[in-house]
Amino acid sequence: MKNRILGTDLQVSAVGLGCMGMSHAYGSPADEKEMCNLISKAVDIGYNFFDTAEIYGTLADPHHNEKLVGKALKQYRNKVKIATKFGIKFDESNKNVNRALIPDSRPEVIRKSVEGSLKRLNTDHIDLYYLHRVDQNVPIEEVASVMADLIKEGKITHWGLSEVKEDTIRRANSVCKVTAIQNRYSMMYRDYESLFPVLEELQIGFVAFSPLANGFLSGKYNENSKFEKGTDYRSVMPQFTSEAVKENQELLKLLTDLGKEKGATPAQISLAWMISKKPYIVPIPGTRKPDRLKENAESANIELSESEVLSIDKALENTHMSQVFGGTKIIKR
Ligand SMILES: NC(=O)c1ccc[n+]([C@@H]2O[C@H](COP(=O)([O-])OP(=O)(O)OC[C@H]3O[C@@H](n4cnc5c(N)ncnc54)[C@H](OP(=O)(O)O)[C@@H]3O)[C@@H](O)[C@H]2O)c1
Repeated sequence: MKNRILGTDLQVSAVGLGCMGMSHAYGSPADEKEMCNLISKAVDIGYNFFDTAEIYGTLADPHHNEKLVGKALKQYRNKVKIATKFGIKFDESNKNVNRALIPDSRPEVIRKSVEGSLKRLNTDHIDLYYLHRVDQNVPIEEVASVMADLIKEGKITHWGLSEVKEDTIRRANSVCKVTAIQNRYSMMYRDYESLFPVLEELQIGFVAFSPLANGFLSGKYNENSKFEKGTDYRSVMPQFTSEAVKENQELLKLLTDLGKEKGATPAQISLAWMISKKPYIVPIPGTRKPDRLKENAESANIELSESEVLSIDKALENTHMSQVFGGTKIIKR
């Protein structure tokens, strides 16, 4: 697979693998052996950028995903880049499928998190360490200063922030060079395109999470799709309701038609569109299925010209679409 540079020097595959859904938010965790095989297959295909987080797990095994990723990538450690995240926990008092998040980035909490992640990931360094959500009780400069210390100590090599806006990016970057932000970005959620100028000015990469709008843009879901209650967030996501499926037919047709022109699937068009838009955008679609790994990786070979991307943008602006999942509620400590 082609590579991209995040920040000034973090070389990653043009499509990364989001590993969250193997353990969290997309139903009960998948079979561990199957997922280890899937991750090995991803390395064979050319993925070298793997995304996880301290909190991707279940009530019974809160760090399931880091442990899985650490186990699966142990034999490939020097060939791959591992990204993980710190700075939030779930509201344990709430048992809903989509429990609220409580940000906590006090320096002592970060210190504990990084040691736990290093251990679970079977590694002596993390390639990209993101603040998962901003903690309004801790100035971002203080978090950035802990990151600078962790870089000096060799525990992390790069850092980033997730779901952030311009002011936070600038303040964080002024203390310790930020390599990438990781924000929600898909054809159904384009709010953060307004950050492109600041990312270019500061030479910061954009890792796009939920790039397929949680799978919806693949066109593989309809009003009969069933999601496991209690563990699958899609059961409460607005784009998957039967009304939304009807509302989004025009969008899915646009993707299918573009796919026919390019000999590509709707999922590939969704990913190729953002990859072609800016050289510093890296989507990290998640999948539990080996065939989809290859399909998603191949989107990096579909070239869309600047004018094709602009005409897709225009078509998207003129296409009616339903609401899309915008994230989990955040509450204060
Ligand atoms: N920073 C944050 O706060 C944050 C939040 C959410 C996610 N993330 C990261 O972003 C990654 C990706 O996001 P996401 O998993 O929420 O959303 P996504 O990548 O938009 O969608 C994942 C879903 O799409 C399906 N899918 C993937 N490729 C497909 C294809 N080619 N055809 C049909 N269906 C396909 C998968 O189903 P199958 O498994 O059945 O293939 C899965 O249900 C996560 O794994 C996580 O690492 C970060």
